[in-house]
Amino acid sequence: MKILGIETSCDETGVAVYETNVGLLAEKLFSQVELHARFGGVVPELASRDHIAKLTPMIREVLASADLQFLDLDAVAYTAGPGLIGALMVGGSLATALAMGLGIPVIPVHHMEAHLLATMLEEDPPTLPFVALLVSGGHTLLVEAKAIGEYRIVGETLDDAAGEAFDKVARLLSLPYPGGPAIAALAEEGNPTAFNFPRPMRHKGLDLSFSGLKTAVRIELERSGLLDGISDESVRKDIAASFQAAAVDSLVEKSIGALEHTGNNKLIVAGGVGANQLLRKKLRQACLQIGATVYYPRPSLCTDNGAMIAFAGWYRRREAQNAGSIIARPRWPLDELLPVS
Ligand code: KG4
Ligand code: ZN
Repeated sequence: MKILGIETSCDETGVAVYETNVGLLAEKLFSQVELHARFGGVVPELASRDHIAKLTPMIREVLASADLQFLDLDAVAYTAGPGLIGALMVGGSLATALAMGLGIPVIPVHHMEAHLLATMLEEDPPTLPFVALLVSGGHTLLVEAKAIGEYRIVGETLDDAAGEAFDKVARLLSLPYPGGPAIAALAEEGNPTAFNFPRPMRHKGLDLSFSGLKTAVRIELERSGLLDGISDESVRKDIAASFQAAAVDSLVEKSIGALEHTGNNKLIVAGGVGANQLLRKKLRQACLQIGATVYYPRPSLCTDNGAMIAFAGWYRRREAQNAGSIIARPRWPLDELLPVS
């Protein structure tokens, strides 16, 4: 079965074709980062318009590079939520129209389930059950995955998502959007123990919080008189390194807590923040200490992409519709999903 996957939930247009028992046949990704950079964050209307412009040519390119025709496709999967409503509607409308035109099923996919399953596209994939740390610009969740579709959220952020905290602190440090990679690069030359930023919610269950950490950074910048036109490069580097260390410590502590709480020994990490090298290193060390294994998808499968949508679409193929309504759910809790039949 050849499934076309379409991802348009936020600021990445992703298209891929996945074939059952074969793997990924072709994929293409366009990131709108440059489009939104000067606004310091994603502008929803601009995101939708750009998805419209990019999606059709990208589908043609992906099919051409897999040497396929439209008529070779067996199903179309698209991100139905959560995400920006306008952006979701672009992918959902095109997927539905295409499937209707071709007379094939169309499969609505939950974006976070797709992130969670993406690691299974890798060689030597983890088997269920596992715990997933889903860390992106919009979400920070610890999920116990017992089976496909059987998810229990055991921890989540009470305020900002981890990626959002990186993006906001980057802005305070006059770094470009997206903040995560920029902070990580600056932190490389800084001292992570220069500032003792708080590790919020320590020893308090499995929920996380990042807004207090962000505020602590702002207070430190104000105290140093550096908030406007920060010029002291070494202080900026130390703040970046100390912030990153605090954010990573929180994520590691809660992930290990989730493994222990659920009695699991496999952790999978997905979402853009999962690309952070310090997080990867610290999680690997911490998991080793408790006899657990951590799995990371390659960076291109960590961030938003069409491949994970096509792949999740395969698991959800029985929920396909032959035509009709477009599903777009800006808010869609992961634990509302039902086990696959
Ligand atoms: O999953 P993603 O590509 O998009 C969604 O939010 O769905 O994640 C983007 C987020 C941004 O907040 C970005 O700053 C963060 O992931 N990010 C990182 C790194 N690379 C991307 N955060 C920390 N370290 C990184 N290396
Ligand atoms: Zn995502």
